[in-house]
Amino acid sequence: MLSAASLTIGRVCYLCARLYHLSYLPQICRFSTMAPSAPSVTLNNGQTMPIIGLGTWKSKPGEVTQAVKDAIACGYRHIDGALVYGNECEVGAAIKAKIEDGTVKREDLFITSKLWNTFHSKSLVIPSLKESLSNLGLDYLDLYLIHWPLGYKENAELFPKNEDGEILYSDVDYLETWAAVEEAVDKGLVRSIGVSNFNKDQVQRILNNCRIKPAVNQVECHPYLNQTKLIEYSKSKNIYITAYSPLGSPDRPWAKPDDPLLMDDPKVVALADKYKKTSAQILIRYQIQRDVIVIPKSVTKSRIESNFQVFDFSLSDEDMKTIDTIDCNGRALHLNWVKDHKDWPFNTEF
Ligand SMILES: NC(=O)c1ccc[n+]([C@@H]2O[C@H](COP(=O)([O-])OP(=O)(O)OC[C@H]3O[C@@H](n4cnc5c(N)ncnc54)[C@H](OP(=O)(O)O)[C@@H]3O)[C@@H](O)[C@H]2O)c1
Repeated sequence: MLSAASLTIGRVCYLCARLYHLSYLPQICRFSTMAPSAPSVTLNNGQTMPIIGLGTWKSKPGEVTQAVKDAIACGYRHIDGALVYGNECEVGAAIKAKIEDGTVKREDLFITSKLWNTFHSKSLVIPSLKESLSNLGLDYLDLYLIHWPLGYKENAELFPKNEDGEILYSDVDYLETWAAVEEAVDKGLVRSIGVSNFNKDQVQRILNNCRIKPAVNQVECHPYLNQTKLIEYSKSKNIYITAYSPLGSPDRPWAKPDDPLLMDDPKVVALADKYKKTSAQILIRYQIQRDVIVIPKSVTKSRIESNFQVFDFSLSDEDMKTIDTIDCNGRALHLNWVKDHKDWPFNTEF
């Protein structure tokens, strides 16, 4: 699906794009007067999407504005957000500031948001999207995703629960939701649409019933859950995978102290030593070399910057294979607490 020629690299130069698998990029970009921005992929509707973006889940409202400003200042042009992260206003404040100070124009940025599980009914989709747009201070999104295939009880709080603390469900079919998301494209509110946390069968069901194909499926993806089969299937359907939690999501709220830390895995650390890079850079580069879009989250300026410095080296084929050997179906975002939902996505092979 992806060829080097199908990449564009912001507004820098096509030559850089053609060489992004190689280690020539920084040298070439030194001849440009513009700050290097990340290579982009071309989605199935012709829109381009930067292959690396900044994640914002768990980024506190008091931290995320600075994080997004720092990211844009160092070259990120893609920000991944969601209504349920509760920080879209603060993300929007950073976008506004970086447009006002002349660093970027709106059209240079690629902004993603996601429809939360309590808004799956057709009548709720556009109002919820408009709430995200209003929070972000934007009049369109570059990408809008159905966050999960799971409908939760509507017209209540974001995590509606019964007295025993169990999540309450709706039985809305995600095909109804998809049709409403397609209407958002017709209305010019979003450029591209996609899904998140959908398994192969659920994606195929959308493909069998859609007017507009999903451009992206955003799923958990890192060497402990490398998603090779879902990536192969998606490529065959011209759908991009975005890898969320690419560093293993060590700050996920339910992490236990003895859970393995991907960035400390001996094989990842050995490669970091070999390439004189950080573990995070190895894990991010791994996705880019598989033509997978990747969205590491950080609110730490030095990490935001170093996570973006992944275009000046290449992992060898042998080292890519070594990384694949640590796959162990190690899913961090299993959502086991809703596994009796009719659309819980993790009861199939992929
Ligand atoms: N669609 C979905 O359902 C879904 C689910 C999960 C995530 N996502 C998206 O994917 C993004 C990324 O996933 P994630 O937030 O779960 O986890 P992640 O990006 O795998 O890991 C984030 C954690 O790694 C730390 N970190 C970042 N760079 C580092 C570095 N260079 N060295 C050491 N530690 C580093 C961060 O710390 P600091 O921030 O303190 O620097 C944070 O604790 C999310 O933010 C969100 O946008 C989507």
